[in-house]
Amino acid sequence: MLAEKFIKSAVIYLIIGLLLGLYMAMTQDHSQIPAHAHLNLLGWVTMALMGLVYKSWPPISVSKIAALTYWLSHISVIGLTIGIGLIYAGYPEYEPIAAVSSIVVLINVSLFAVLVHRNL
Ligand code: HEM
Ligand code: HEM
Repeated sequence: MLAEKFIKSAVIYLIIGLLLGLYMAMTQDHSQIPAHAHLNLLGWVTMALMGLVYKSWPPISVSKIAALTYWLSHISVIGLTIGIGLIYAGYPEYEPIAAVSSIVVLINVSLFAVLVHRNL
C-alpha cells in the first residue's frame, strides 16, 4: 500500500511540476526554474523511485519509519518548492522555509537509506 501511495502522490506532483514548466515557457519568465526543478525531481522522480523501491522489496515498507518517510516526503516537496519559489519570486525573507525543508529532506533520505541498508 505504501508503494502505491508514493506513486499516486508522485504523478500529482508531476502534473503540478509540468504546469509550472508550461507557465514558465508560455510567459517566457524562467525565474522559477529552481522551484520547477525541485518540484519535478523531488516530487515526481524521487517519490516515484522510493515507491518503486518499496514495491520491489516489500520488507522495507512495513515499518513505522517507512510510513514516516511518506509524510516527510510530502513536507520536503511542498516546503522546498514553496520556500525556493518565494526566494526566486523576490521574497528572500522566507528563506527559513527552504532551510527547514532542506533539513527535512536530509532526515527523510537518511531514514530511507537506513531502511534500504538494513533490509536489502
Ligand atoms: C510540460 C513539461 C515541461 C515544461 C514545459 C518544462 C519547462 C521548463 C523550462 C521553460 C525550463 C527552463 C529552461 C531554461 O531557462 O534554461 C525548465 C527547466 C528544467 N526542467 Fe522542465 N519542463 C517540463 C517538464 C519537466 C520534467 C518532467 C522534469 C523532471 C522530471 C523537468 C526538469 C527540469 C529541470 C531539472 C530544469 C532545470 C534545468 C537547468 O538547471 O538548466 N522539467 N523546464
Ligand atoms: C536538501 C535539499 C536541497 C537543497 C537545499 C537544494 C538546493 C539547491 C540550490 C540552492 C540550487 C541552485 C539554484 C540556482 O540555480 O540558483 C539547486 C539546484 C538544483 N538542484 Fe537542488 N537542492 C536540494 C535537493 C535536490 C534534489 C534531491 C535534487 C534531485 C533529485 C536536486 C536537483 C537540483 C537540480 C537539477 C538543480 C539545478 C536546477 C536549477 O538551476 O535550479 N536538488 N538546488
